[in-house]
Amino acid sequence: AAMEPAATTPLTGALAPEQGLQTGEYLTTAQGLRLSDTDHSLKAGPRGPSLLEDFHLREKITHFDHERIPERVVHARGAAAHGVFRAYGSAASVTKARFLAEEGKETPVFVRFSTVLGSRGSADTVRDTRGFAVKFYTDQGNVDLVGNNIPVFFIQDGIKFPDIIHAGKPHPDREIPQAQSAHDTFWDFVSLHTEATHHVFWNMSDRGIPRSYRTMEGFGVHTFRLVDADGGTHLVKFHWKPVAGVHSLVWEEAQIAAGVDPDFHRRDLADAIDAGAFLEYELGIQVMPDSAEETFEGIDLLDPTKIVPEELAPVQPIGLLTLNRNPDNYHAEVEQVAFHTGHLVPGIEVTNDPLMQARLFSYLDTQLTRLGGPNFPQLPINRPHAPVNDNLRDGMHQTAVHRGIAPYLPNSLAGAEGPAPASAPEGGFVHVPRLVEGAKVRANPVSFDDHFSQPAMFYASLSEVERIHLTEAFTFELGKCYEQAIRERMLGVLANVDAGLAARVAAGLGLPAPAGTPVPEVAVSAALSQITGVPGPI
Ligand code: HEM
Repeated sequence: AAMEPAATTPLTGALAPEQGLQTGEYLTTAQGLRLSDTDHSLKAGPRGPSLLEDFHLREKITHFDHERIPERVVHARGAAAHGVFRAYGSAASVTKARFLAEEGKETPVFVRFSTVLGSRGSADTVRDTRGFAVKFYTDQGNVDLVGNNIPVFFIQDGIKFPDIIHAGKPHPDREIPQAQSAHDTFWDFVSLHTEATHHVFWNMSDRGIPRSYRTMEGFGVHTFRLVDADGGTHLVKFHWKPVAGVHSLVWEEAQIAAGVDPDFHRRDLADAIDAGAFLEYELGIQVMPDSAEETFEGIDLLDPTKIVPEELAPVQPIGLLTLNRNPDNYHAEVEQVAFHTGHLVPGIEVTNDPLMQARLFSYLDTQLTRLGGPNFPQLPINRPHAPVNDNLRDGMHQTAVHRGIAPYLPNSLAGAEGPAPASAPEGGFVHVPRLVEGAKVRANPVSFDDHFSQPAMFYASLSEVERIHLTEAFTFELGKCYEQAIRERMLGVLANVDAGLAARVAAGLGLPAPAGTPVPEVAVSAALSQITGVPGPI
């Protein structure tokens, strides 16, 4: 009789029942051979040398030797959870993306929170930006909103990403510090590269040390272009607002937690879900008119170092995210998940923000190395919940057994099992046909030169206690620099934002205030002590 074709792993949908499960009653090798003993290697006598013949020893050790994959080049330390996104329907006026537009529509999600600079084993409560990456398994294909807990970024152009990360990661010689920005290379770079100032202010504020993932905001950072059912467009910024409110640690708590429980945030995440205290975040959008200039109230919407104040464009709620299930396996889910800013569906597009444009290249590129070749979309955590019918074939770690002889288009040979014909524009992803024109230059718009007005606005928005925390943070971190010249240069940057702040940090560092800044009335430690009753860390 003709042999039945081997069962193939579907490329889509839920896990096949046998996948991920250890079946059968007995311990076996990877080939299914029942084992009699896994505790003793095969030897020439009880005291004798081990035998090369021992296929079980070799398989067990070889597999173990290859258990690790490279950690992420950034955002290496993370924790994640499954959940559901429920749309309110209020976004229907601005987008045709069904998972956002249809009232009550529920979409499964996987969310990974992370720190940026530390290695996979570093502490959770360090002062750093936090990643807030959301994968929506929509019925139109996967959408990734790969955001952070800070609404702006250090650089305006992705070509500088290797520079900021090389400056922020541990020093190449001694690999210290592990996961804090308190060192010479970071402060050297950001004091020379003043477009980082706004992000640095958020980092040095209480936002840099969140209390919990439950109490952390998330931001899409870039401006996106939403497309409605009639082809109309709006420019938007995405915000995640935690239902539990925004709360931070104070620096002393963060330091103690980093020592006593380096898993402080991931433990909190897992324990909260186990206890049924699910994490909730409302997704909101700031909606701005689309225009040729792509500006709003004088703010350049292509500049990722700028926010749009909520007073000018209120955040309008469009849905609720609930995280309600812990991963079963850290490696299979949290390590192997692959986010990409280019995962979009009809109704959402990116803009020409030069930071976003570089990201569109970087994520797939890095994952080719990190996840070992081009077939990682087949990993269970990355599989879309929409049907997949592509002409991508073969390659390292291919697990599908494709049928048919004509993975190309056009063709006349594929028949029913071949690839689908080229999709009709109707229902498919069609880019908004915007005119793109310009001289080929390596240059930024002039508006990108404003580096200080928004940090000044941020500083002005802080309460007195928050200002003291920020001042303390700058003083502590700059106090860790070995190079005096770097501290002095950074004081000059602070003076461009707020003269009083620069003078107080200078006093805390025992340095003269930058020229033109007022002498502080009270040293920062004393001010903090007055409010908290405990001596400051300086
Ligand atoms: C990883 C956010 C800018 C390259 C990540 C992750 C987040 C994130 C949340 C972790 C993803 C995960 O949990 O697996 C952001 C934000 C940015 C930004 C909000 C700016 C607004 C950039 C830029 C580049 C870049 C400009 C490069 C040009 C990477 C790479 C990874 C990563 C290579 C590792 C991805 C992986 O190994 O899977 N980013 N990022 N990012 N980001 Fe970014």
